Amino acid sequence: MSEAKDVKEVNEGAGKALESPAMTARTAAKQAADEAVGRERSRIARELHDGIATDLAAAISLFKTYMEAHPKFGKAGGSDELLGNVFGILERMLKQVRETLAELRPRPIGPEGLMGDLRTQADEFARLYSIRVEISSNGTEDMLPSQQREVVYQVVREALTNVRRHSGSSICRVRMAFAARPFMIEVADEGRGFTSNPSGGYGLVGMRERAAGIGGRLEVVSTEGRGTTVFLFGPT
Ligand SMILES: Nc1ncnc2c1ncn2[C@@H]1O[C@H](COP(=O)(O)OP(=O)(O)OP(=O)(O)O)[C@@H](O)[C@H]1O
Ligand SMILES: [Mg+2]
Repeated sequence: MSEAKDVKEVNEGAGKALESPAMTARTAAKQAADEAVGRERSRIARELHDGIATDLAAAISLFKTYMEAHPKFGKAGGSDELLGNVFGILERMLKQVRETLAELRPRPIGPEGLMGDLRTQADEFARLYSIRVEISSNGTEDMLPSQQREVVYQVVREALTNVRRHSGSSICRVRMAFAARPFMIEVADEGRGFTSNPSGGYGLVGMRERAAGIGGRLEVVSTEGRGTTVFLFGPT
């Protein structure tokens, strides 16, 4: 019962926000910009995939054929130790390109929904990176309009990618407070943390922009040696 009431109130709130003409124009402009960025990212991903990634995969496969015919290939002290090192570099490059590809393509939420996709990702983190992702939630994802749900999805994905790439943490807690008003999403790790103003990346900037795009906000609390928590608050 109370859930049905929550759904109604959230949707009414969103409807009211859209009534203002200035807001409508801003939302439309933001949406057009997001779509343009999305198209450009897809184009870059396609070129990377069809170009560098395909060539690297071909080079690695040729190397492997050669290695099968030369079982001592690349062994320390062997005549082709140097080639063995080149092979290692090629493999690392391909892995990096694949990771970049995955990040360039913001996948839309799949048929299993936001929570289903999140659970799949949690399984993957445990299996591939030995990071335990604990998920808790109150309320359900359908309490959020689809545009907000999409933003939650992208922000959680980027926050998890940062946990994997930078934190060194073996645990990550994701709290999805759909029923809170404003809604609140929290991604917390117990890793190395970071000090003020790290620069160079686009992840945190992108998360902030996405949050602002739905009238919400992003907060990052990080303590060196203690961990990082990313908060996403929905529109008030
Ligand atoms: N969970 C985290 N633990 C430790 N450091 C983090 C974490 N999240 C972010 N950082 C630090 O903040 C920096 C900026 O993060 P951001 O996501 O903006 O960029 P990036 O991950 O380096 O690159 P990009 O996301 O553009 O691929 C990171 O390089 C890292 O130093
Ligand atoms: Mg990042």
